[in-house]
Formats: sequence, structure tokens, C-alpha cells
Amino acid sequence: MSTAGIHDLELATTHHVLDMADLAAARGVDPNKYLVGIGQSRMSVPAPDEDVVTMAATAASRLLERHGTEDLRALLVATETGVDQSKAVATFVHGMLGLPSSVRSVELKQACYGGTAALQMALGIVAREPSARVLVISTDVARYALGTPGEPTQGAAAVAMLVTAEPALLAIEPVSGLATIDVDDFWRPNDSTTAVVDGALSMGAYQNSLTAAWDDFAARGGAPIEQIDRFVHHQPFTKMARKAHMTLARHTGVRLSGAQMESGLAYNRELGNSYTASLYVALASLLDAEDDLAGKRVGLFSYGSGSVGEFFTGIVGEDYLAVRRPEADRAVIEDRVPVGVEEYMALHRRVLSSEEDAETPRVTRAPFRFAGIQGRARRYEATGR
Ligand code: COA
Repeated sequence: MSTAGIHDLELATTHHVLDMADLAAARGVDPNKYLVGIGQSRMSVPAPDEDVVTMAATAASRLLERHGTEDLRALLVATETGVDQSKAVATFVHGMLGLPSSVRSVELKQACYGGTAALQMALGIVAREPSARVLVISTDVARYALGTPGEPTQGAAAVAMLVTAEPALLAIEPVSGLATIDVDDFWRPNDSTTAVVDGALSMGAYQNSLTAAWDDFAARGGAPIEQIDRFVHHQPFTKMARKAHMTLARHTGVRLSGAQMESGLAYNRELGNSYTASLYVALASLLDAEDDLAGKRVGLFSYGSGSVGEFFTGIVGEDYLAVRRPEADRAVIEDRVPVGVEEYMALHRRVLSSEEDAETPRVTRAPFRFAGIQGRARRYEATGR
């Protein structure tokens, strides 16, 4: 049986952070609606010289510093905040990291599910060629229009994962439960920089997808729910993971404890929604928070509106603590620079047109920055940090 899976992972986020209590005050809303009702404390806000490409390259560069590029055969980037209709985010990142030309580069999209699609594709590649390693990156900026109900569920992050045949962190088990259900719960038209969402429908669609994916998982001989020790669910906001956990308990008729999913909420509560990255931010949060997970089974539910859901499981490696770096992850979160609501709104409204050359101000402290538009093409550069 294949034991391929996630060997190591690395987080990145944006330069700025907005406190949800400040947003609540500006919107005339009780702060507890955001802090408790939605379950978000802060959200990441990109600087003008940051986007999904710079976050992806930052996360990946830190991962490759530790593991090198030898035997790297593919760079798969999942995002629903793509910067071009044709050129893959992966290709920009490939160039910024100076990867060998023998690494295939592709972008994948299916709303927030894309990262799991990329992970499954990576597992297929290493199953066929066990010496190969694959870099999977989920990177997104969640954007809703200002003043809408979706506004407090924005955020941004990237997670880079190295997928190998002999992973230190999480060996992915072969059974997956799948659910593709065509529904218009959330989407972003080509001519819009913000998502369109039917909030109530999206929460119902998420839960329908979870139960359908679970049923498929169970029918295919997946692990019984009593043998799953921890759960991480896709988190557009952390309350959604709590709802998912209760839905699964109700659906299976098995009592599940909140403690089985609590450690996976900490980072998402700080970063906000990161679409494709959110499930893997939750995984990092879980693996950083608990130090006795070796050999434990984790259930993961990935959901992408539109919709595709997948329930799958992984076994935490015996030596997983040797690759985890909780201080580094916490530094990514704590090093962000606070912005007030006025500055956040100005950043939100700032959208560059590809019709005009533009240079961006130098703000980010990350190793890569978006330098601006030249000759209709996006330009990126290393910052030397
Ligand atoms: N103190 C504590 N809790 C409060 C509160 C207060 N003062 N005021 C409201 N709440 C709770 C509500 O009871 C509700 O909790 P519940 O769902 O457990 O009952 C929660 O806060 C949200 O309140 P609600 O009135 O439903 O919020 P909303 O209509 O403004 O929208 C979303 C909430 C999530 C639908 C909205 O943010 C959204 O559309 N987000 C984007 C879509 C999304 O992420 N979908 C998820 C599936 S992918």
C-alpha cells in the first residue's frame, strides 16, 4: 500500500493585518458577531506589492531552503485568485525560485478545493515514480465587496507542501470520499475582482457536500469514524468547521468531541479565509499545537464551492516533530503590520489595470515582491531578504 503524503509544509501570508474588532466598530456591528459568531479575530491584508504569486514563492522558497530541489518533478499551484487567464501562477513561481526546467508547472482551479486536487495529482506522480518529489502550493486572497456580509470572512495565505513517497509529516491513506454537486453558491465572474456569494446557500452546500463525501468514503471502506483521532475541515471562517464537525456527528450518529478539531482552528482565526490554503493552514495549526500526534489518524474535509468536496485521511508520521517549526509559523502570523479600517479600504479598492504600466510601492518584507505592470505583463522581483 502506498504511504505517500506530505513530507513538510510551510506557511506564508501578507504584510498587513486588520483586527476584526476594528472592522466591527467601523461597520456598526457587535464585535462578538465576528469574534464569536463567525469565529475570526484578525484577517491578513495584502500590501500593494503582494499577491498570490509572492505568497506562493515565499512559502515555497522557505521549504526548498530546507529540502533542496533534487528530484523535484512538478510544481502544482492551486488558486482561485489567479493573476492571468493563461499563464499559470506556477510558472511565475518557477521563475522566481529558479527551478530546473525539468519541473512541470501547472495551475489548478476548483474554488477552495483546488489544493486537494493538486495534492491528489502529486500523490499520483510520486506513486508512479517514487523517487520524484512534488511541490504543491495553495495560495489565495479571499476578497468580498466592502460592506457586504462576506467582508469579515476575507483573509490571505499560502501553504507550500512537499509531497514524497516517504513523508515525515502525514501519510495519505488511499481511500477518498468524493462529492461533485453543481451548485451556484459562490463564484467569481471573469470581470469581477470580488466573489459573489449566497452565504446561507454556501453553508448548506458545504454541509451537503460533507455528508455526501463521507458516505462515499464509508462505502469505499474508509476508516470508521471512531478510528479518526483528529479532524480538520475547510475553514472559510472557523465557525464553519464547528458546524461541519456537528454535521458529521449528526450524520454518522457518533458522538465527536470538539477537542478533536479545536487545535486546527487557531491559525485560520488569525489569517482569515485563505480559500485553497485554508484546509492546509488548519493542518499546520493542528500539527504545531499538539506534540503527541505520532501515529494518529487525521480526517480532512476539503470543500470548494461550485462544488467539489473530498473527505480523506492521513496518518501522522512517527518523527513529525522533527520537521515541524511552530515558532516559524507563529512568526509569520505575529510579524504582520496592523492597518486601520481606512487604510484597509484603500488597499482593497486599489486594483491595477493591465492597460497601463505601473510601479508598486516597496512595502513587503517578504523575499519576493510584485513590482508592477510593464508592457501588459506582471513583473516580480526578489527583495534580497
Ligand atoms: N454575538 C455572538 N454571535 C452572533 C452575534 C453576536 N452579537 N450576532 C450574530 N451572531 C452569530 C449568528 O448567530 C450566526 O451564528 P450561527 O450561524 O451559528 O447561528 C453568526 O454570528 C453569523 O451571523 P449571520 O447573521 O448569519 O451573519 P451574516 O448573515 O452577516 O453572514 C456569512 C455570515 C458567513 C454567511 C457571511 O459572512 C458570508 O456570506 N461569508 C462568505 C461565504 C462563506 O464563507 N461561506 C461558507 C461556505 S464555503
